[in-house]
Amino acid sequence: MRKGVGTSPAPRSWRGEDRREEPRRPQAQPAPARPGSRAMDEEGCAERSRRRCAASAFMLAAATGFLAIAALTLRPISPGVRAAEPADALAVLKAGFARPTFIPHPVDNPPTAAKIALGKRIFEDVELSATGTIACASCHDAKLGFADGEPKGKGVTGRRLVRHTPSLWNVAWSPLLFWDGRASSLEDQIRFPIEHPDEMGSTLANAVDRFSRHDSYVRAFAEAFPTDGPRISPRTIAQALAAYERTLVSPPTRFDRWVAGDPGALTPSELAGFAIFSGKGRCSSCHAGFAFTDHGFYDIGLPGSDKGRGGQIGLSAADHAFKTPTLRELAWTAPYMHDGSLATLDDVVRHYESGGVTRSTRSRDLPQGLVLSERERSDLVAFLEVLSSETPPQPSRETWVNAAMPAARAPPADTTLVSQANKLFHPQYVRVRSGELLTVVNDDTRTHNVRIYDPRFDYNSGAQEPRETVTIRFPGPGTFEAFCAIHPSMRLTVVVE
Ligand code: HEC
Ligand code: HEC
Repeated sequence: MRKGVGTSPAPRSWRGEDRREEPRRPQAQPAPARPGSRAMDEEGCAERSRRRCAASAFMLAAATGFLAIAALTLRPISPGVRAAEPADALAVLKAGFARPTFIPHPVDNPPTAAKIALGKRIFEDVELSATGTIACASCHDAKLGFADGEPKGKGVTGRRLVRHTPSLWNVAWSPLLFWDGRASSLEDQIRFPIEHPDEMGSTLANAVDRFSRHDSYVRAFAEAFPTDGPRISPRTIAQALAAYERTLVSPPTRFDRWVAGDPGALTPSELAGFAIFSGKGRCSSCHAGFAFTDHGFYDIGLPGSDKGRGGQIGLSAADHAFKTPTLRELAWTAPYMHDGSLATLDDVVRHYESGGVTRSTRSRDLPQGLVLSERERSDLVAFLEVLSSETPPQPSRETWVNAAMPAARAPPADTTLVSQANKLFHPQYVRVRSGELLTVVNDDTRTHNVRIYDPRFDYNSGAQEPRETVTIRFPGPGTFEAFCAIHPSMRLTVVVE
């Protein structure tokens, strides 16, 4: 077994003294260079037309989330034959992993330095819990990659929680929060841990009460919320915490240097691992984009009775499905999965090789019958490790982290027909006339859903199987936001005129 980070579980108690010592991440051993190449798997195009595949590759350049399809379309990119490759094929593949250029902050909670600093202070404050002993940071510990290093953590009661504590890297991009997606924004998410009897066992009203008694908090809230109504309220607490959490952007690693154009940034072993990741391992069909997640919910075959997303939205097609986690900084956040059941990255790769539990809900995007040699397995693990910092990670300080969000958006398309191929509504922004029906056709290989949460229009298509079509009649003029409750990165804006 590979010796290195992420392969040795390092359970630490959240109360433990060992929190104070800086964990060190042993340097990954660069594997010796070796000749030979591994072709990327092209089977993904067998069931699709060539034209469709080419179109996906094109869309990838603009958007994210399609990496797999693009990858499967591309010619082999394994390191040994890179010189012979068309440079643009590799460039398209890399573009799918490029770092973002802004943090998506909601318009009603714009970030300011004062608000972020206040959010960080609240995040680290044990006053938020009933017992005055547990902070958000007790479970999401900056020294442990904003996770807790345990299969299942503990809060105020000392009882084990039901699910594993996820890291908070790159949560700004996650449309839905929690393993089962039950919170629809970071602002909304905050009350869950505060009110959970086993986590913090308190209430936001209690927090308002406590903070109001500290002069320095009163001043900090006034600075962070200079014009808004009551300064210290459940809303401002949530907004400050959420604004801070959005700054937890995983820092660049050698992988990003490689994507940015330094061909020597990765070792031959890591490059071979990347070829498996985006080729026959099919990992990138779900772990796509800079954060290595499409934010969708999938059953990857882990045993257990937890229904995950299916239980949450009442769709059995999404039973045992959990949110695809980011793969950034994994070396610091073992153990893995919603149940904390896999201790090392080697165990994770072996899980994908075994295929896990056979169930009707098991995702068809998983690799089928994946067989890896010892060398391939260690290459893949080496690649996963290069997505982690080599010293304890700190949130990124890249200049774009403080950049403003671009406002402009292309005009809507005039059409009443929307496709769902490749986990994307297409087009994503349409205009229909009042009274017209909108048709959404599932021309993908996966089960989708169309959900609109709106006080004017609450719509749920239920499970929409491949080739099924739904028609939607809107209640009247207005702008409506639709999404897929299983693949929530799928967003559709409909302007009804
Ligand atoms: C006692 C441990 C504990 C404490 C304290 C705690 N959390 Fe968590 N956190 C968890 C667990 C466990 C989950 C996953 C639960 C689930 O998905 O069902 C989680 C999930 C999250 C998520 C979702 C991440 C994602 O990718 O979906 C966010 C965000 C979060 N916590 C923020 C906070 C904030 C903010 C606080 C303080 C107000 C906090 N947590 C306090 C254990 C904790
Ligand atoms: C069908 C989508 C899908 C594919 C394909 C896929 N994953 Fe995952 N991955 C997930 C989901 C969903 C989870 C969380 C599952 C859970 O906890 O139940 C996950 C979890 C993980 C984790 C644990 C991360 C953590 O913080 O707990 C790692 C590591 C990982 N995947 C690596 C890979 C690798 C390597 C491959 C290719 C061999 C791969 N994945 C293929 C969806 C996918």
